[in-house]
Amino acid sequence: MVHMFETATLLSPADYRAAVAAAVQAATAYYADGSTTLGDDEYDALVRAIEVYEGAHPDEVLPDSPSGKVAGGAADGDVPHSVPMLSLDNVFSAEELAEWAAGLERRLGRPAQGYCVEPKLDGLAVAARYAAGRLQQLITRGDGLAGEDITHAADAVLGLPALLTEPLDVELRGEVLFTHDQFDRANETRTAHGALPFANPRNGAAGTLRAKDRPYRVELTFFGYDAIGLPAELDHTVLLARLAELGANTAATTEAHPQRCATVEAAQQRVEEIAALRPALPFGIDGVVIKADAAADQQQAGSGSRAPRWAVARKLPAVHKVTRLLEVEWNVGRTGIIAPRAVLEPVVIDGVTVTYATLHNPADITRRGLMLGDQVFVYRAGDVIPRVEAPLVDERTGVEQPIVFPEVCPRCGDAIDTGEQRWRCVRGRNCQAVASIRYAVGRDQLDIEGLGGTRAVQLVEAGLVTDLADLFTLTREQLLALERMGETSTDNLLAAIETARSRPLNRVFCALGVRGTGRTMSRRIAAHFGSMAAIRAADADALALVDGIGAEKARVIVAELAELGPLLDKLIAQDVGTAETTPAAATAAVDTAAGDTVAEPADSGPLTGEAVVVTGSMTGALAALSRNEMNELIERAGGKASGSVSKKTTLLVAGEKAGSKRTKAEELGIRILTPEDFADLVAELLG
Ligand code: IVH
Repeated sequence: MVHMFETATLLSPADYRAAVAAAVQAATAYYADGSTTLGDDEYDALVRAIEVYEGAHPDEVLPDSPSGKVAGGAADGDVPHSVPMLSLDNVFSAEELAEWAAGLERRLGRPAQGYCVEPKLDGLAVAARYAAGRLQQLITRGDGLAGEDITHAADAVLGLPALLTEPLDVELRGEVLFTHDQFDRANETRTAHGALPFANPRNGAAGTLRAKDRPYRVELTFFGYDAIGLPAELDHTVLLARLAELGANTAATTEAHPQRCATVEAAQQRVEEIAALRPALPFGIDGVVIKADAAADQQQAGSGSRAPRWAVARKLPAVHKVTRLLEVEWNVGRTGIIAPRAVLEPVVIDGVTVTYATLHNPADITRRGLMLGDQVFVYRAGDVIPRVEAPLVDERTGVEQPIVFPEVCPRCGDAIDTGEQRWRCVRGRNCQAVASIRYAVGRDQLDIEGLGGTRAVQLVEAGLVTDLADLFTLTREQLLALERMGETSTDNLLAAIETARSRPLNRVFCALGVRGTGRTMSRRIAAHFGSMAAIRAADADALALVDGIGAEKARVIVAELAELGPLLDKLIAQDVGTAETTPAAATAAVDTAAGDTVAEPADSGPLTGEAVVVTGSMTGALAALSRNEMNELIERAGGKASGSVSKKTTLLVAGEKAGSKRTKAEELGIRILTPEDFADLVAELLG
């Protein structure tokens, strides 16, 4: 429903009323405990659409409209502020910032005397009252005119001294927030006390400041950016330095420190610098604030009822979004760590579609109390791996399911060591080695019989094999020394390995298990490059020339190949995968290892121009062929093999028990052949 309130569209009267109701509900929840499902982006868009409507229909403005009100009119409190705590107007682009500065210049009748550019801290505004340098009272912003007394929370707020360095009567103003570390610690503490984790840092900070009588303490951080009671002639940058002198924390302690800029162009540059720093900052920011630095400029520009005219917030895209947790995948890393990964309903955060997010470790899932089907807060900033922060427990409908943890290693099937927070396969690094050897020796790859089962484990555990290249240097003595390894099995295994050495390049490449390259892609890559050395030397541009590899996939493959570099070098040095790779070899028989070729599509052959799909079980002359071998055969015959029937398919080979692919091919009027008829068609290749 949020999406109907686009900024540019003029709302209908009914949509306007709905928009006001949605904004009021969101603002109320946000200022109560931060628990709205409406992201900052959507809320801003909603308020903008409301303002556009009200601009066009000034006599129809609803009394509870959030426009022009501090905190959307949602918050309240009973401690009057000495001076109203104002909000900030927003701009959303460099152009809007330039327009704002031009407006300020018109108002001043001259350019502003410099700007201070500083981070817009994503927390809660507070006023801290000091008498003779001693902290007396801490108050929330509330509706800007009066706030809530939260003095009970003051000693948990770092950077807000109980005693200033000078005995002044002063009110410090600034933002209280959880740094990322504080947020994680707070959630650990909460869940250790049986409480639900906070959905996000802002929500958590709001709840923590209000809470009284909690059986535990969690720390927050204060960043000062204003003061009432210091000399009025202080420029803003000087005032910030004074706050620090008095002992308060300010953003000057961070990389995103406030900076004085002479012109609006320089200010814009600093905005971009701070925006770029955002992912690396130890706390959340939701924008950058640009303030006229000179006290004289501020006084001359003055303030409206909601916001000062001498400052503006350049909002940055929201980094928190709500989406649904669909599934949890368990991936085993190189060292055997078993890491859970959330599969999400795709959600766009800061222009990037997020589908996966890290869940850290099983304890973290338990601590966050996540369930499948939950609505969850997801955080993503810059290049940081998106992470699931917490579920929106209030939004549960009862259909959510518990997350099932694996009982055995999802890669090699052995036991899991659950002794540490991060679970690990008992094989550690060897899990990877065993799993990749088992994959590499499979029928469609190197096809080495006798290495699929416990033998691979034995070789890895004996330290004889760490990767597939090591297979080719195994000696008779080494094998004979292994338990349950007699002369016959040793000789058979060595012979099988020797045969594998001359497997065609596509199969050796496929055996590497490079992400994004299955059998078909391995055939295409091998055919395109012709040698392992050429593949090894390929960059992303070269790989992107291979049919079916886009720029993104090319980058993934290049990164994997770089990691596999030492293994590739070993294979090249041992002459593995250097068997004949020219299309000339394509005429050899497919059912002998020696004739198994790189399936480069032949320039001409019985299937030239055909797009072929195979389905059902093969019989007759084709009975012994795996699906991979069928595909290789098709490509050697000049055709293009594919796994699914589409409008592009020209021929379906349908064996026994052909199902939906056959039905679809019939519907599309595609030519269908039995395995026997197909074997006749490609007889010249079957030898
Ligand atoms: S100046 C009159 N500076 O953003 C001065 N506000 O969206 C008004 N905020 O209410 C505030 N970082 O809670 C200022 N560096 C900063 C800020 C900042 C965060 C908050 C503050 C304000 C809200 C407006």
